[in-house]
Amino acid sequence: MEKRLLRITVNDDLHELYIEPKRLLAEVLRDELGLTGTKRGCNTGACHACTVILNGKTVKSCSVLAIQADGAKVRTVEGLAQGAVLTPLQKSFLDHGAYQCGFCTSGMLLSATTLLKENPHPTVEEIKEGIHGNLCRCTGYNSIIRAVKSVAEGKYKEGGK
Ligand code: FES
Ligand code: FES
Repeated sequence: MEKRLLRITVNDDLHELYIEPKRLLAEVLRDELGLTGTKRGCNTGACHACTVILNGKTVKSCSVLAIQADGAKVRTVEGLAQGAVLTPLQKSFLDHGAYQCGFCTSGMLLSATTLLKENPHPTVEEIKEGIHGNLCRCTGYNSIIRAVKSVAEGKYKEGGK
């Protein structure tokens, strides 16, 4: 199959690469760009482990062709922290033990990041709605919700606790 040029900005870095048009965004992020923080769980759009932020909105990267993201800006979990400085949400996840095996954590962080950007002070119900669809096979939902709520309550600040 003829390859096509993909120009995509991921975590503020522009990448230009030739890909087969059928390749999924999740595949290109992981296999071509080495960003393996994006997880592939079900590959059918059901688990949201592969969530990334595409032009400001969360998408399931297993359900998007990479070529559809031509010219787009993507943020993956690797692009949340600024160097060694974690985001408030990442710090809160750590403090609340909001991960067990960690497989869902990237998707959870990206969904919650988008939620907090759109609604900085969500209620518990709104948090549940915001991460609705992100499956945690370890069933760590309570600590995840507490972690997001703590950020929503202003207990964590950018660049420090
Ligand atoms: S791997 Fe994409 S939704 Fe499950
Ligand atoms: S921490 Fe294991 S799937 Fe969520």
